[in-house]
Amino acid sequence: MTATTYNQVKETLVQTPKTWLITGVAGFIGSNLLETLLLLEQKVVGLDNFATGFQHNLDEVQGVVSAEQWSRFSFIEGDICELADCEQACAGVDYVLHQAALGSVPRSIADPINTNHTNISGFLNMLVAARDAQVSSFTYAASSSTYGDHPALPKVEDAIGNPLSPYAVTKYVNELYAEVFARTYNFNTIGLRYFNIFGKRQTPDGAYAAVIPKWTAAMIAGDEVFINGDGDTSRDFNFIENAVQANILAATATEEAKNQIYNVAVGGRTTLNTLFSALKEHLSANGVSYTREPVYRDFRAGDVRHSQADISKIQNALGYDPQFDIIEGIEKAMPWYVNDIIANT
Ligand SMILES: NC(=O)c1ccc[n+]([C@@H]2O[C@H](COP(=O)([O-])OP(=O)(O)OC[C@H]3O[C@@H](n4cnc5c(N)ncnc54)[C@H](O)[C@@H]3O)[C@@H](O)[C@H]2O)c1
Repeated sequence: MTATTYNQVKETLVQTPKTWLITGVAGFIGSNLLETLLLLEQKVVGLDNFATGFQHNLDEVQGVVSAEQWSRFSFIEGDICELADCEQACAGVDYVLHQAALGSVPRSIADPINTNHTNISGFLNMLVAARDAQVSSFTYAASSSTYGDHPALPKVEDAIGNPLSPYAVTKYVNELYAEVFARTYNFNTIGLRYFNIFGKRQTPDGAYAAVIPKWTAAMIAGDEVFINGDGDTSRDFNFIENAVQANILAATATEEAKNQIYNVAVGGRTTLNTLFSALKEHLSANGVSYTREPVYRDFRAGDVRHSQADISKIQNALGYDPQFDIIEGIEKAMPWYVNDIIANT
């Protein structure tokens, strides 16, 4: 029943196109949102400063959509830490999908000041600019890291613990600001607490790459794969297309569903050991054989031990219905990783 909701929303959007702003559009999640919205004939404004995003992500989207669809995209190279850039980007926009941030727990431990600046000051700029532009909806990327050291599984939105990293603090502060903007200015937003999203265009490069692209790239190169801890650490890995669905449902939600935080996940739990085997198997199905065993090393500071979402709130309120479990997501993502990583090495 709920998959119908998403299909209906998409049909309505095609019939009555809207203007969207995606911040962080050159990043992993932003560029996937861009692709889906352009394919749905929407008008999209994108804002990015290429801090961790790439022109090649935008080029790839251009290659997937028609010339006419691409002509509905306008890009602003700018910084959410500059209020004027946020104001320019928000002008005339119906729906904001705010994704721009400095991600990664270890990056925030190494550089808390820049993470704080982008993720808190930049977020506040976007809230002010969107409020002043009187946009119809404001959806932002929150994070499962906000659950911190709360031991309960699965994670339910209301029960959070102490933050375990500067990154987690910034994402929690976003939620606090969002709530205060609802209370103070009657500006109602939706925060989507993403749990480990993966899929095409998630970079395997750099010290702060996420585990799935990082391991896949290492396996393709025949390098060692490091597991932090004993491998029993678990995550609710969520394929990108489920997260895109959540954003579109949130942006178009009724007022009653707003001023809320929602988990965005599948509701499953996969250990790092299981993930290692699944990636190896799916690489093999794509013609890449990896025969090495993983190398175990110390647990990483700031990491939570287990993570799994209760997704009933978003299912009930927004009609969210994830269409891909982790294995289906890996199956869909693997050909892209193999082609992209091999093409870039
Ligand atoms: N990927 C995940 O599993 C995950 C999990 C939880 C939360 N999130 C959140 O989702 C959002 C998107 O993450 P992602 O995985 O696509 O990361 P990403 O690094 O691929 O994308 C972030 C984008 O924001 C841009 N950006 C950073 N600082 C900026 C600034 N000051 N001004 C303008 N643009 C700026 C970057 O250049 C990049 O293109 C982030 O807010 C992140 O914290 C992601």
